Amino acid sequence: MRITLSCIKADVGGFVGHGEVHPELLGRAHELLGKSDALVDFHVTRVGDDINLIMTHREGVDSPRIHGLAWDTFKQVTEVAKRLKQYGAGQDLLVDAFSGNVRGLGPGVCEMEFEERPSEPVIVFMADKTEPGAWNLPLYKVFADPFNTPGLVIDNKMHKGFDFVVHDLKGNTQIRMSCPEELYDLLMYIGAPHAYVIKEIYSRELGEICASATTTKLSLIAGRYVGKDDPSLLVRCQSGLPAVGEALEPFAWPHFVGGWMRGSHCGPLMPCALEQARPSRLDGPPRVVALGFQLAEGKLVGPRDMFADPAWDKAREMANEMAYTMRRHGPFEPHRLSLDEMEYTTMPQIMERLAARWQPIPEPGQPARELVGAGRGHARGDGRTLDVD
Ligand code: 13P
Ligand code: 13P
Ligand code: MG
Ligand code: MG
Repeated sequence: MRITLSCIKADVGGFVGHGEVHPELLGRAHELLGKSDALVDFHVTRVGDDINLIMTHREGVDSPRIHGLAWDTFKQVTEVAKRLKQYGAGQDLLVDAFSGNVRGLGPGVCEMEFEERPSEPVIVFMADKTEPGAWNLPLYKVFADPFNTPGLVIDNKMHKGFDFVVHDLKGNTQIRMSCPEELYDLLMYIGAPHAYVIKEIYSRELGEICASATTTKLSLIAGRYVGKDDPSLLVRCQSGLPAVGEALEPFAWPHFVGGWMRGSHCGPLMPCALEQARPSRLDGPPRVVALGFQLAEGKLVGPRDMFADPAWDKAREMANEMAYTMRRHGPFEPHRLSLDEMEYTTMPQIMERLAARWQPIPEPGQPARELVGAGRGHARGDGRTLDVD
């Protein structure tokens, strides 16, 4: 019988600031999912300040029943967040009314429907202080790079390669690319992770889905900055798919991702155990955790906290080194994100405030217009306040 694995996530209030989720919020989410008869099984967890509802069920992907359950859960957990005055309570619930699917409403969603194999190992990756494009590089390595994944060379069932479905977030279009043939075309797009993100991956030999990622961009929904779109990712492993160790391996070499402080900085993605997924240095650096489960008739046997292993200490050390290198730049690029990415933060408001004061640079011989600085009292703020910063 087919099973659907869904992970629906949202930040509905941070403890303290944007660092973690208060245990009462997790407890409430657990209680609410426990009352539902729509689920085969569930696991409630968090990374940093993001709650992840990991669920198995028989309703298929995009099910209004499952999406409605997650939406109601986040709504009710927000009430707890408000009572405890958690930071940014309800941050990711951008719309009041639920209309059958959480896509476009704020929460992130990744799901896959498949026939459960005799053994079905899955890994749920969850990140905080970054964005969906953060998975592009590791997914490329897992499913297309033999230097990461020996199975691409030594497992006959992996030789046909994998199909990648890529979303153009700004253009709202998608494309399917077949690798290894289209590796270079694929890299041209996914090398720009703030614009193009991998949504799904399919095994060409098995004809099956094997990875699914969240792609929500909150700023594109809200039209303003409301926190980063901390992403989640599901990966099925073994038997013609990457081994568990191959799926984890890219994180041994931390890479730079967009996010961190105020969603506006580049920093290393640090793999860590759940216990350590409470970012505090300049609200970061960005974190990734990996929970492993074996599915058994839809039951989530687990989790195993995959990065709770001293073998990842070196990666954490490297990520700390990389964080220091970036921090040295303070408000300068490449630590601060580039201008086109800053468009999706609070920068447009600053630009709007100063727009009238930018004067053309005079041509040679032309008199310069008087430039008026803020000292004369011309440049006052517009008084608007931000919901979340
Ligand atoms: P075992 O021999 O421990 O089962 O491991 C097999 C394997 O494929 C590890 O990646
Ligand atoms: P989150 O996106 O995790 O809420 O973080 C927002 C932020 O401003 C961190 O400094
Ligand atoms: Mg937050
Ligand atoms: Mg977060």
